[in-house]
Amino acid sequence: MQKIFITATNTDIGKTFTTLKLMQHYAKEGYKVAALKPIETGVDKFPPDGMKLLTLSQNLNPNLKNITIEDIVPITFELPAAPFIASQAQKIDLDPIYKSIQKLQPLCDVLFIEGAGGLYVPINKDYFMIDLIEDLHVNKTILVTHCDLGCINDTLLSKHSLDQKKIPNEVYFNCKNGRENFEKVSKPFFDAIDFKINFV
Ligand code: GTP
Ligand code: MG
Repeated sequence: MQKIFITATNTDIGKTFTTLKLMQHYAKEGYKVAALKPIETGVDKFPPDGMKLLTLSQNLNPNLKNITIEDIVPITFELPAAPFIASQAQKIDLDPIYKSIQKLQPLCDVLFIEGAGGLYVPINKDYFMIDLIEDLHVNKTILVTHCDLGCINDTLLSKHSLDQKKIPNEVYFNCKNGRENFEKVSKPFFDAIDFKINFV
């Protein structure tokens, strides 16, 4: 099984949107897909991202009919905040994440893992989302970024962090407001440094 981690330059950039698209793409290519959201915060009754990932996973992969929302989102918190804060600074036990992966492993060829927020979202006081990516030994990380003014800085900062830790990564631009402004205002710099641009 291949593990692909989906992170972003920030919250609300399009991780879930991109994950759902990638799942459809890989399923069309014949792969059995599944998705995992290790930690979701801001959860009232059901985790909204997790529900989207569970629904599509089960539609695309018949092996997952007995999988539950707790398998897809093993750790949830009510407060819409970084996990460290949402857990009221209680140390979060990450074991349920590894148990979920073990359960999903025999049922899929590709497991998409959606982070929460960006790379330096604290899970524990001294443990960040980027540390979880390292510890999960994923095959590839996809960094989803935006196309609005400021995307050069945001994209380079996050990519730099991944490169520094030697985490193999690809950058995908999610242009929620269309590509026109991006082409004019930001893309010329990326072209000048031969930065590979993929669009979601
Ligand atoms: P968190 O998991 O909460 O950090 O957010 P996220 O990074 O997963 O973002 P998500 O994919 O939920 O996207 C945020 C919002 O923007 C959602 O309402 C999406 O439906 C919407 N959205 C994301 N990408 C696009 C896009 O390319 N076009 C349009 N029109 N809407 C988008
Ligand atoms: Mg999301």
